[in-house]
Amino acid sequence: MRSARPGHGHGGAATVSRRVTPHEPHAATGTPEARAATPVVVKLGGRALDGADAVDAFARELAACGAPVVLVHGGGAEVSAWLERAGLAPQFLDGLRVTDGPTLEVAAAVLAGLANKRLVAALRAAGLDAVGLAALDGGLVACVPHRDADTLGHVGEVAGVDPALLATLLGAGRVPVVASIGDHAGALLNLNADDVASALAGALGARLLLLLSDTPGLVLDGAVVGRVSLARATELLGHPEVQGGMRPKLAAAAAAVAGGAARARIARRGGPGSLAGEHHGGADGTEIGPDPGTKPGAGEIARTDPAPSASRPGPRNEGDAS
Ligand SMILES: Nc1ncnc2c1ncn2[C@@H]1O[C@H](COP(=O)(O)OP(=O)(O)OP(=O)(O)O)[C@@H](O)[C@H]1O
Ligand SMILES: [Mg+2]
Repeated sequence: MRSARPGHGHGGAATVSRRVTPHEPHAATGTPEARAATPVVVKLGGRALDGADAVDAFARELAACGAPVVLVHGGGAEVSAWLERAGLAPQFLDGLRVTDGPTLEVAAAVLAGLANKRLVAALRAAGLDAVGLAALDGGLVACVPHRDADTLGHVGEVAGVDPALLATLLGAGRVPVVASIGDHAGALLNLNADDVASALAGALGARLLLLLSDTPGLVLDGAVVGRVSLARATELLGHPEVQGGMRPKLAAAAAAVAGGAARARIARRGGPGSLAGEHHGGADGTEIGPDPGTKPGAGEIARTDPAPSASRPGPRNEGDAS
């Protein structure tokens, strides 16, 4: 199966099987706004958690966010650290990890094990009813070997999403925490967590895909790009300053908006309070929204977004990136 997702030069198809919106109240918050809201999908890069107390601080920010949330996490830096402990050299091609057999074992152990359970524990301590999963659990994410598997090894592309399990968990007031390990024909595959978050955000018709990393946004010519349309974001994938992990990240942001999310934002997890600001569209970062004149991906989004004027790019913002 091959990608139909705009901007996914490296793969990452989202053949969305169906879209669902949770119908039950979110027990963690219970406010009318939260009950009415479509979910926010937050992707937390491993780099966003550098520093003492970062995981606990993030958990407190998420608990204060007040919306149904699906959390997808990376952990690339931690995987690399464990590889080095095992005497293995981390390698990347175009922002994706080259994953041989031993690297896959370390990635699965670190991402679906330590990183996932550490986040679940922190979220639970912060009062959120977190449930840890990997992309393969319950058939949440279907994937196929990456088209460049000859060079990348055990790396997968997202081929489809069945969000029913997420809808059940969200409907019960729980916070799914998803590690980016998938499967195909009985074998594990390493997935880019930005791709997983993007596909889930599209399938859920998320009102926001928030990609948190160690960068204040997409940086070009020394400045953070403010707001761009989907078409402009796709063009920028060819910009020479879009390198490394930013390539799959920008592609994932564009694909989420093309696939049904209302908007996507690339930003830094910058300490207490920052997540709430991002959630309401009021913080720094790079926002990717639909092209002018197009409708939001899901009918609910226009009615429930708390900041509708910030959810779609206005004409004066188009082309800010260049
Ligand atoms: N134009 C750019 N603007 C901003 N960051 C960029 C740009 N080009 C490349 N980058 C790099 O992209 C990195 C972020 O992607 P990276 O994959 O390393 O982190 P992550 O996605 O947060 O973590 P993980 O992959 O573990 O989930 C930044 O640290 C930065 O070095
Ligand atoms: Mg990354």
